Amino acid sequence: MKAINITKSGGPEVLQLQESPKPKPDKNQVLIKVKAAGVNRSDVITRQNIDLYGKTSQETLIPGLEVSGEIIQVGENVKDKKIGDKVCALIASGGYAEFVAVDSSHCLPVPEGISLTEAAGIPETVFTVWFNVFHLGKLQPGEKLLIHGGTSGIGTMGLQMAKALGFKIYTTAGSDEKTDFLNKMNLGTVINYKKEAFEKVFKDEKIDVILDMVGGDYTQKNLEILNQKGRLININGMKNMEVNIDLRTIMSKNLNLTGSFLKPQSAEVKTQIAQAVEQKIWPLFHSKQIHPVIYKTFPLKDAAEAHRLMENGNHIGKILLTMD
Ligand SMILES: NC(=O)c1ccc[n+]([C@@H]2O[C@H](COP(=O)([O-])OP(=O)(O)OC[C@H]3O[C@@H](n4cnc5c(N)ncnc54)[C@H](OP(=O)(O)O)[C@@H]3O)[C@@H](O)[C@H]2O)c1
Repeated sequence: MKAINITKSGGPEVLQLQESPKPKPDKNQVLIKVKAAGVNRSDVITRQNIDLYGKTSQETLIPGLEVSGEIIQVGENVKDKKIGDKVCALIASGGYAEFVAVDSSHCLPVPEGISLTEAAGIPETVFTVWFNVFHLGKLQPGEKLLIHGGTSGIGTMGLQMAKALGFKIYTTAGSDEKTDFLNKMNLGTVINYKKEAFEKVFKDEKIDVILDMVGGDYTQKNLEILNQKGRLININGMKNMEVNIDLRTIMSKNLNLTGSFLKPQSAEVKTQIAQAVEQKIWPLFHSKQIHPVIYKTFPLKDAAEAHRLMENGNHIGKILLTMD
């Protein structure tokens, strides 16, 4: 099969279209003929070989954490999926390829009203937001949520999910074009953090949960604007992974500071997330309250261009690769 391989660590040019062995599904897996694959910031980090889980690898690797497509083979234990099903799936790697084998319990049906291609932009964002905001962050009815990076893949989906579920939402973005987009989508209180200091604007809001991917000096500022018993959840630290905080801010308000990586979670945890989002979030797609925001699609062979676009940071929503 054709697949994009990371041939060595480096810039986008190390992504090369090559012939790779077609994966074989094990007894609990299905084989998906991929229609589209989501491009994620994590793929860029993997390509640069900054390994966040403590390993360094020079091995050739097919990136890609989410796909959509049609099931063309099922393992002997698989009872809940069948050949011909159109699904989207969370995977640990290997999405930038014509075929991928994945645990059947990590596949979900393509939601009604969403195209097969668009569905590739759903799993990573919905699973990440669900696990962090609702599982770790325990966002409760009536509470307020701030998601930084509102126009990221994570932000555009997370804000829609929280709004549809009735939460009061706040967000930040780095240009007027981005804040205009978020305002047009009516995604809560939006500020351009390059023009206004979020910690001043949101100071009196008493935010209950913050989902942050920026880190660095945002961390102490986030803690300062949290309500009593607030929760700060980090999913990255793009400014800086190492932070300075004043413990008094945590102790004086009984705050919780946590975070997670989705990729290394166990298969069981991913299955639990899949079950929860199918029950709680899939109906929001069906009722057209939420949809993936797709910025641009590229043919598989142009994966390097897709990474360049992501790295220049002007995109709004998801970037996809298609197999057509
Ligand atoms: N831990 C996990 O399991 C997990 C899972 C999925 C995603 N993530 C993380 O969540 C974030 C969003 O992922 P994504 O795939 O949706 O990425 P993305 O679309 O590329 O979004 C990144 C966003 O971060 C904002 N940003 C703020 N400060 C930044 C900085 N210093 N450098 C670069 N960008 C900055 C950018 O918007 P502005 O122009 O508004 O600044 C950009 O929209 C990424 O950091 C990713 O690594 C973590």
